Amino acid sequence: MVSFAIATYREQPWYHALLLGSACALVSLLLITGNATTSQPIQDHLTADKLAMLAQVLPQNYYDNDPLSETLELHSDSLVGPAVLMLARKNGELSACAMQLSTAGWGGVMQIIMAIKPNGELLGVRIISHKETPGLADKIEREKSDWITSFDGKSLINVSTKGWAVKKDGGEFDQFTGATITPRSVVRGIHQGLLLFQQWQKNQPPEATHHTQKNPIVEVHS
Ligand SMILES: Cc1cc2nc3c(=O)[nH]c(=O)nc-3n(C[C@H](O)[C@H](O)[C@H](O)COP(=O)(O)O)c2cc1C
Repeated sequence: MVSFAIATYREQPWYHALLLGSACALVSLLLITGNATTSQPIQDHLTADKLAMLAQVLPQNYYDNDPLSETLELHSDSLVGPAVLMLARKNGELSACAMQLSTAGWGGVMQIIMAIKPNGELLGVRIISHKETPGLADKIEREKSDWITSFDGKSLINVSTKGWAVKKDGGEFDQFTGATITPRSVVRGIHQGLLLFQQWQKNQPPEATHHTQKNPIVEVHS
């Protein structure tokens, strides 16, 4: 009699629906719990990575704010996607800016990070990622050569517009033997970044260099 009753309810459609529903609820619960426990560590890891990247071009004694939380996007048709400007402040005053931008190289998109002083001088530049040919064009990496440090201290004032090119094109910066396209792209990307920064600065009211607003939404198109 009992076994007959069990067989009966197992054959009912509601029993299968309940079983399926319970399994789905259990899986959802596991996914939600997993996400809740891992999302913060992942976020912390990403922030640490970004700060390490920033430290390559912007010494930490330049700022006492969180430049990663004061960002804005600048747009240039010569770049791949928007450039991200990060504002570094000391005692509320703008002390430097870091800019992350992407430019097209020989093998694909290259990501560049650079830091700029308020007077427009470059504090440092590094290639974050690239798809250029190893052994031929990877001298853009700081680990492979000091070529990227040739931009230190350069600005739109101490290098003429014509100078912002590789020597082969009449500019100031070295190219690599048999690989001119990569350094040409890097020089152009950095030049565009400086022009965007200059344009952004011109559009700022004088008081904007003093911190009043978190995450300002400013867009500059060139
Ligand atoms: C397999 C292969 C990979 C190359 N990779 C690069 C590269 O990563 N960057 C680059 O500028 N040129 C690269 N080149 C060379 C370019 O096609 C081009 O010839 C060169 O950049 C022009 O430089 P030049 O004016 O000094 O000759 C590569 C060529 C070949 C055949």
